[in-house]
Amino acid sequence: MKVLSIVGARPQFVKLAPVAHAFSAAGYEHVIVHTGQHYDTRMSDVFFEDLQIPEPDVHLGVGSGSHGVQTGAMLGALDAVLEEHAPDWVLVYGDTNSTIAGALSAVKLHLAVAHLEAGLRSFNRRMPEEHNRVLTDHAADLLLAPTEVAMAHLADEGLADRSVMVGDVMTDVCFLVRDAVGGQQPALPQGIDPANDYLVSTIHRAENTDDPARLRSIVDALNDVPMPVLLLAHPRLVARCAEFEIDLHGGSIVTANPLPYPGMVAAVMHSRGVVTDSGGLQKEAYLLGVPCTTLRTETEWVETLEGGWNVLDPELTSLSELAVRSTPTTTQRAPYGDGRAAQAVASVLAARVR
Ligand code: UD1
Repeated sequence: MKVLSIVGARPQFVKLAPVAHAFSAAGYEHVIVHTGQHYDTRMSDVFFEDLQIPEPDVHLGVGSGSHGVQTGAMLGALDAVLEEHAPDWVLVYGDTNSTIAGALSAVKLHLAVAHLEAGLRSFNRRMPEEHNRVLTDHAADLLLAPTEVAMAHLADEGLADRSVMVGDVMTDVCFLVRDAVGGQQPALPQGIDPANDYLVSTIHRAENTDDPARLRSIVDALNDVPMPVLLLAHPRLVARCAEFEIDLHGGSIVTANPLPYPGMVAAVMHSRGVVTDSGGLQKEAYLLGVPCTTLRTETEWVETLEGGWNVLDPELTSLSELAVRSTPTTTQRAPYGDGRAAQAVASVLAARVR
């Protein structure tokens, strides 16, 4: 069987890792297409190296742009690639512009397309990721859902007969890397002492970075937290802070470059807590047993809210106290699977091939 994966942004490389290994173990022919949405070494290459993902077979090199320009550039380049490789399945991941471009190209060429991480919903129509998820789910032939909640959303939209629950491939990679990095103290960027309490933070979503007043209030709130905040700055955050003349220094914040995946897992495992607007990081904090505070009005990963592991604080009303709260004592019920989702993906694709 031949599967063609389309990826382009950092969280998709993480999801690709366990899937690529499962396909290799199953003896599938696997073509990897990188759209080039993320192109900085720290946002792309390090993930392929650290997670031992085979080099992409095709690199479209589209780079950054407005949503339409970026998605359109991918669409323009994908037809020829898909026609050349003629896979049994096109596999798209998550909710980025690379996801919707891949799904749309495949469906228009009458190629079977499967969506991994299907059925997530924020019900916030202002998020570009929400458009990407909904449109991809309705275009795809096979919907590979990570959770029961995602399955229920798909059923509500009339998509039950195309949906299969496979579990969450991010659990696979998170647990593998957690076990590999072990209990050692992480090497943290200068300014953070791993022997003392610290928080890990990332901020990159448009609704938090693109309005200067909003971004300023987030930076001020992080600077007021009563312990060091390791802010792993996405290029978008750096660009917006420079544009709006927002100084990232001056309080608790210690700014550093994005970390590779194993470094991130180690940093979170040893932290007192996480403050983020990233979907993946909310769930990684949960899987690693670290409390998370999410600077958004809603989350797709609603299971993380149970027992107080994750708390939403969009208005930044009590961030100083919330961010440093103690680790909950409630038991987690493993809603994201047992770390074997990628094998399930490989089996379901084989069982449903046309
Ligand atoms: C994208 C995804 C988002 C995901 C995030 C993970 C969409 C709509 N959004 O958001 O769902 O959570 O990736 O990181 O697809 N840039 C660089 N170097 C890079 C990549 C980006 O400098 O390697 C800068 C550019 O200024 C670019 C900006 O970051 O314009 C935004 O990048 P883009 O890929 O458009 O969206 P993300 O914010 O990364």
